[in-house]
Amino acid sequence: MDYIENIQKLISDKFENPPLANVKTFGCAQNENDSEKIRGLLYNLGYSMTDELSKSDIVIFNTCAIRENAELKIFGNIGELKALKKENPNMIVAVCGCMVMQQHIVDKIKKSYPFVDIVFGVNNLEILPHLIYDCYMEHKKQILNPNEKIDIVENVPILRESKSKASISIMFGCDNFCSYCIVPYVRGRERSRKPQDILNEFKQLISEGYKDITLLGQNVNSYGKNLEEKFDFADLLKLLCTTTGEYVIHFISSHPKDINKKVIDVIRDNPQISRQIHLPVQCGNDRILKEMNRKYTISQYMDIINYAREQIPGVTFSSDIIVGFPGETFEEYLDTEKLVKDVKFTQLFTYIYSKRNGTKAALMEDNISHKEKSEWLNRLIKIQQDIVFEHLNSFIGKTVRALVEEKHGKMYTARMQNTFVVKFESDTDYTDNFVNLKITGKKGTSLTADLLI
Ligand code: 5AD
Ligand code: SF4
Repeated sequence: MDYIENIQKLISDKFENPPLANVKTFGCAQNENDSEKIRGLLYNLGYSMTDELSKSDIVIFNTCAIRENAELKIFGNIGELKALKKENPNMIVAVCGCMVMQQHIVDKIKKSYPFVDIVFGVNNLEILPHLIYDCYMEHKKQILNPNEKIDIVENVPILRESKSKASISIMFGCDNFCSYCIVPYVRGRERSRKPQDILNEFKQLISEGYKDITLLGQNVNSYGKNLEEKFDFADLLKLLCTTTGEYVIHFISSHPKDINKKVIDVIRDNPQISRQIHLPVQCGNDRILKEMNRKYTISQYMDIINYAREQIPGVTFSSDIIVGFPGETFEEYLDTEKLVKDVKFTQLFTYIYSKRNGTKAALMEDNISHKEKSEWLNRLIKIQQDIVFEHLNSFIGKTVRALVEEKHGKMYTARMQNTFVVKFESDTDYTDNFVNLKITGKKGTSLTADLLI
């Protein structure tokens, strides 16, 4: 705390008005959550947040490494900061997140982007105040090489974006080593937070009025593996649901090899848990699944889907799909089309396979052209669009409960548990609250409704 006070003093002496910070997130919900912690740390030091890069005293890019085009886009964005830094040499430029957990990326930043002042990874966000202090005091860059820190630091301050939606990291890292994926290399080994720490954070959010809580982990179904007590993900869900109040709990991501009947039964028994389950399947062909090191077959995947359908009325599923994995043939890709048509996901995140150096798949032969893979992706997107329209149509005439997110004059948008957007008109402002809506029709990819209350 003494150290933090020194930094706060340094910042308040250095700037006449509160200095401004811009934290830009690339990538997934975990990164969004990390960025909220980075903003919390900066706020604690005396910074205010701004959306304007040119006015910023510190710019932090929280980066993603999942696909090559994410990295290329980020390098483009970092490059654009060069001119800003020239205009305002006192501006601190910092890069953190998954991308800089790779030594070759840190080396590239040092060589080609010498105006970057601070580089730090994903597992030690709380070090940021020290890096800023040293950067100012020593007039020296603070470029950390990737490390794999194992501890979990609790009570990092957090500045949340929304008043009704929040995420809670329940675990960090991943031990699965799916053959295409860089995450285990950049986020390190899996470790779970203690149930009591998660429960405290959850209760705090509910008491502050948060209504939509997403539990985050690379594979939430293996939560608890490294805890001293015997306590798994189903136990955690049950524990959180003892909290009174009206809220919805979502969780991302589940791994089909680890989700089990116990989790499904807990969802069935606790209406506070979302009736949409995100269950990334990645592809519809058993040979490719084996090559991907996913450790389940399509028949096992369908068993859990069917069990959930039997147990939880109205349950829906969303998923992630990769097309064009090395060696995948058109016939094998067609199995993915078949699966998508069979399950009828409400939401699908589709990607073309991207080679990540250091992963097993990067060494596999890949002789399908990018053009062909794009054609497969487009076919799949088209199939999914029709499925979404079918789902949207099935809601017309029904009553749904949704959380109001945005207001444009008298028009409001609300989101259903399955992430469908519903638009309605109201004289009263229900932003950040649940409302009952009678669905009247469909407009583009969203629904229209009359407000019931
Ligand atoms: N190429 C394409 N997509 C990938 N994903 C992970 N790694 C890759 C890769 N190398 C996708 C998976 C995962 C989602 C978060 O990103 O579908 O579930
Ligand atoms: Fe990557 Fe697989 Fe871990 Fe998900 S479960 S983060 S796809 S290695």
